[in-house]
Amino acid sequence: MSKQLNIGLFGFGCVGQGLYEVLSNSVKFKADFQKICIKHPEKKRILDQQLFTTNKWDILNDPTINTVIELIDDPQDAYIIVTEALKRNKNVVTANKKLVAEHLEELLELQRKHHVSLIHEAAVCGGIPIIRTLEEYYDNERLTSITGIFNGSSNYILTKVFKENQSYQGALEQAQKLGFAETDPTLDVGGFDPKYKLVILALHAFGIILKPKDVLNCGIQNISSIEKNVYDDSSLQIKLTPSIQRLPNGHIQAFVLPQLIGTTHPLYNINNEYNAVIVEGIFSNEQLFIGKGAGAHPTGSAVLSDISALCYDYKYEYKKYYHHQNISLDNSAKIKLYFSGEKQNLEKIFGEDRAIEVENGGVVLAEESIQWVIDHQKQIEALSLFVAQIHNEALVPLQKWLKKYELVYALT
Ligand code: HSE
Repeated sequence: MSKQLNIGLFGFGCVGQGLYEVLSNSVKFKADFQKICIKHPEKKRILDQQLFTTNKWDILNDPTINTVIELIDDPQDAYIIVTEALKRNKNVVTANKKLVAEHLEELLELQRKHHVSLIHEAAVCGGIPIIRTLEEYYDNERLTSITGIFNGSSNYILTKVFKENQSYQGALEQAQKLGFAETDPTLDVGGFDPKYKLVILALHAFGIILKPKDVLNCGIQNISSIEKNVYDDSSLQIKLTPSIQRLPNGHIQAFVLPQLIGTTHPLYNINNEYNAVIVEGIFSNEQLFIGKGAGAHPTGSAVLSDISALCYDYKYEYKKYYHHQNISLDNSAKIKLYFSGEKQNLEKIFGEDRAIEVENGGVVLAEESIQWVIDHQKQIEALSLFVAQIHNEALVPLQKWLKKYELVYALT
C-alpha cells in the first residue's frame, strides 16, 4: 500500500528546484513539502515564503514529518541532517555522494538500528538508475568490473576542449554556469567526485566498504596541448574513468584515473555532461548504461524516483555486503600508464633516458602498479604532470603517434 509521505526538504538550489519542477510535471505522483530548510532567506523564492525556514530543527524535530530529502551542498551539514533524521526514525533521500561515501558503515548501522531507509540514487550518475539496478537486478550475479564516466563536469570540459577547441578554463566556467560543477570544482576535475560515486557503487556491486582516502584519484587538471595533439593526430581521446575490478585473487582493484581510449571503446562517444556505467558480470557479460549525470532535471528525476520508492517503504538490502566473502582492496596489479608534462619534470621521476620529447613537452609510457602511483602522487602533482591509464586498444595508435617523433619507447 502506498504510504503518505510528509516531506521536509533541505536545500532549494539547483537540484532542489529541479526536483520541484520535475514534481510539478509529474502526472500521477503528488508529494507535498511541509517545510523547506534553506541557507539564504534573502533570496527570492518561487514558493510561498511560509514554507521556508533556516532552522534545521524545525524539520528534524517535527514528528509529523516522516521523510527527509537532503539536497544541500555542504557534506558536514548534510551529515548532521541525515544522521539526526535517521535517529528520529525518518526515512531519508540524499544526493550527497561525499557524505554517503565517507560514512557508509555508520549509515548502514543507523538504518539497521532505527529500521529506516536511506536511499541515494541521485548521488551516483544523476539520471542513470544504477544503484537500484545493482541492488535488484544484479543482486545474485558475481560482477567482475564496473567502470564508466561518473562525472558530468569533467566529461563536459573534455568534450569542449578536445572536440570544440575551447579553452579548459572557459569550459570549466561553462560547466559551473550550467550547474554541473561542484561549488569547489576541484572535486570534479581532481577526480574526487567520481571516487565517492565509485565507493558507493563498490558497496552495492561488490559488497565492499572502501574508504575514499584509500582509493587513488588523479584528475584532468594537467591536460595540455600534448593530449590535444594526440587527439588531433590519432583520434585517441581522454575520458576520466573510475574503475573497480575483481582480480584473479578475488580481491578488488579500484581507482580513478583519466584514460586514453580508442574510437571503438564504448565510452568514446559519451560526451558533454553525459555519464555512462559499464557493468560486467560473469554471466551477463558487458552492459552499458548511459544518461545525463548532472543538472537540475536529471538529478531531480532520480530524487523523485527515490521519493516514490519510499511510498512503498523501499530499502536497499545490501545483500552483497551482508553475505560477502572476505574481500579487500588490492593496489598491486600493474597497469599501462601515460605521463606527460615538461620533459625535465618527467626526468625527475623517470630518469633521463625515458622521456620522449614531443611538441610542447615530453611523454613517458610506463607499466606500474596503482600503489606505485599512490606512492608518487605528491611528486606527480608537484611537477604538474598529467597521468592517464592506457586502454589496451589505445596502445598501438599511441606508439604510432610517438613514432612521429622518431623516438619510440617500446613498452614491454
Ligand atoms: N558535479 C557533479 C558532476 C554533479 O559534474 O557530475 C553530479 O553529481
